[in-house]
Amino acid sequence: MTITARPDDPAAAGNPRIRDGRLVPEVIRADFPILATTTSNGKPLVYLDSASTSQKPLTVIEAMDEYYRGYNANVHRGIYEIGERSTAAYERARAAVARLLNAPDAHEIIFTRNATEAINLVAYSWGRRNIEPGDAIVLTEMEHHANLVPWQLLAQEKDGDLEFIPITDDGILRLDVFEVLLRLKPKLVAFTHVSNTLGTINPVADMTRMAHEAGALVLVDGAQAVPHVPVDVQAIGADFYAFSGHKMVAPTGSGALWARRELLEAMPPFLAGGEMIREVHLRRSEWNEIPWKFEAGTPDIAAAIGLGAAADYLRELGMGRVREHERELLDYALPAIAAAHPDLALYGPMDTSIRGGVIPFNVPGVHPHDVAQVLDRSGVAVRAGHHCTMPLHERLDLPATVRASFNVYTTRADIDALIAGISEVKRVFGG
Ligand code: ALA
Repeated sequence: MTITARPDDPAAAGNPRIRDGRLVPEVIRADFPILATTTSNGKPLVYLDSASTSQKPLTVIEAMDEYYRGYNANVHRGIYEIGERSTAAYERARAAVARLLNAPDAHEIIFTRNATEAINLVAYSWGRRNIEPGDAIVLTEMEHHANLVPWQLLAQEKDGDLEFIPITDDGILRLDVFEVLLRLKPKLVAFTHVSNTLGTINPVADMTRMAHEAGALVLVDGAQAVPHVPVDVQAIGADFYAFSGHKMVAPTGSGALWARRELLEAMPPFLAGGEMIREVHLRRSEWNEIPWKFEAGTPDIAAAIGLGAAADYLRELGMGRVREHERELLDYALPAIAAAHPDLALYGPMDTSIRGGVIPFNVPGVHPHDVAQVLDRSGVAVRAGHHCTMPLHERLDLPATVRASFNVYTTRADIDALIAGISEVKRVFGG
């Protein structure tokens, strides 16, 4: 699947972050104060761990700061000026998220703390009402633990059956096996849009169509997609789409679930308390409308406002351009790394038309944690370990990997620093 710049990417005129239709990461970096800092040993920070969490631009930091300094008040409660301002800002943020995802109705966006909470919401609310003994749920071998463990708990409780779409050795889903699994008539199929470990971009619209033809509902884990590729929930056609804010230049503690209105209306509440009710009596209550039915208690208002600012920031860059930027970087990085370090083990699909900006690798004979530690001495921040995908590592017969990952501010210079850092790793470990 090739993703090209979207025709609806906003105009670039007057935006210095875009030149000749392309992102200019050197300009974009100035929006992110942390990228101008140095590590304690005086090295400029080379941040290549955005799949773990992204850095935050000033527009997001300032939106949150402005809320706390200027109009901090609870939402949907205070009938006074700053209360009304905070409610309006919170709901504007919801609309900004809906626009980024092309959701048909902002009320189909439920704010959560992250993708994990969004998936748990579906597993608890929809899952506990709809999964019955013997029902199959189809997942994949490449899922993050967040899109695996909630279904394990549900299957254990309801005596359901979990099935898994296998992957090829280079990390591509076996759709031929998926077709066979669909004959089990699963109630739900849940898969990641983009693998956090291998970068594989899955054909989510095709998979959704296949699942629907078999009568299943579809949940897509978009945690690694919303920051990196154009996401149009209507074009994908899935039933649930979950993502985190903190990977898409928004604050930690922000995220959302998009789901089709009729599903949300039929689902029981997930968490109970204030805000999610219309009427409460001592022995019974009635629920609020969506989305508030699923937003019990005082929400993280500042984080939601930051998420809205992040959604606007990315929309202005244009998600088609963001994708093209990361693909160009991959096209630069994969051959450059292989040429400089032919002995390195690189994982994931080598076809960059189906791969996001994630590069997992191993340096022969050096433990991934040691690689990360030596890279850190050069100011290069990468993640090492199992990246919350232990079953995927087991499938690939790897105890752990080192992972470099991109975002809108990543440059070729960052890749060059990584390549030089790996030379230093080899020098230290005598390779
Ligand atoms: N899910 C995050 C990662 O892949 C934490 O690193």
